[in-house]
Amino acid sequence: MQISIKTGPEIEGMRTAGRLAASVLEMIGDHVKPGVSTGEIDRICHAFIVDELGCIPAPLNYRGSPGQPPFPRSICTSVNQVVCHGIPSDTKKLKKGDLLNIDVTVIKDGWHGDTSKMFLVGGGSSVLGERLSRVTQECLYKGIAEVRPGATLGDIGHAIQVHAEKERFSVVKEFCGHGIGRAFHEAPQVLHYGRRGEGVTLQEGMTFTIEPMINAGKARIRMLADHWTVVTHDSKPSAQWEHTLLVTADGVEVLTRRAEEALPV
Ligand code: MF3
Ligand code: CO
Ligand code: CO
Repeated sequence: MQISIKTGPEIEGMRTAGRLAASVLEMIGDHVKPGVSTGEIDRICHAFIVDELGCIPAPLNYRGSPGQPPFPRSICTSVNQVVCHGIPSDTKKLKKGDLLNIDVTVIKDGWHGDTSKMFLVGGGSSVLGERLSRVTQECLYKGIAEVRPGATLGDIGHAIQVHAEKERFSVVKEFCGHGIGRAFHEAPQVLHYGRRGEGVTLQEGMTFTIEPMINAGKARIRMLADHWTVVTHDSKPSAQWEHTLLVTADGVEVLTRRAEEALPV
């Protein structure tokens, strides 16, 4: 598949979808607390996305690879050693100190906005958990800071990998960021590791995500029997942050930026 370049009204469509996706993460923060189940978080997000925003939750019934069952919920909730694609459940109650990633993708007028953030449940996370979450967000921001016409995808991956490994963490290699637009997952694949100068050259009008998954221990992962939930092989925690980006004439626009964020770009 080739990389689509967005112009004019297409960019406006992506801006709107991105802003709405961000608003879901802004809304849900007050509901994330000990005792609440990830199933309840999913229901609150679903109702907000459909009834308040007039959007479609892209994960619901999403078909990944052939042989994978359709994803059964409207968001992904990934706790502690879950790397990504955790399935919300009424029996999974959050505890003080849990590291939770909420990943939201909405569709508005056919355009997708995809973003995720970490929550330190009840404020009681370990020193390691807090550092893992902070460093992973820094990895995202260092990746974003590379984005401009003429830079390469390798520049992004390199910046992320160097920062994670300097902190003695590891980068998950099996999952990556992706082009995004009328489709949830488009070309190109955006690896979170790599070498400076390698890979696709960025061009004004490209839209893609950066969504590093960083493990406190080893990079190795395994898939649970539900065919969706990805966990660390060593059961140590993992973190992820994600934004949807637009390459502009002179740099980058963060389409899923939240009000709370003071971005370095
Ligand atoms: N939102 C995820 C991403 O960042 C994809 C989730 S697919 C789902 O690409 F089916 F698990 F929702
Ligand atoms: Co994504
Ligand atoms: Co996502």
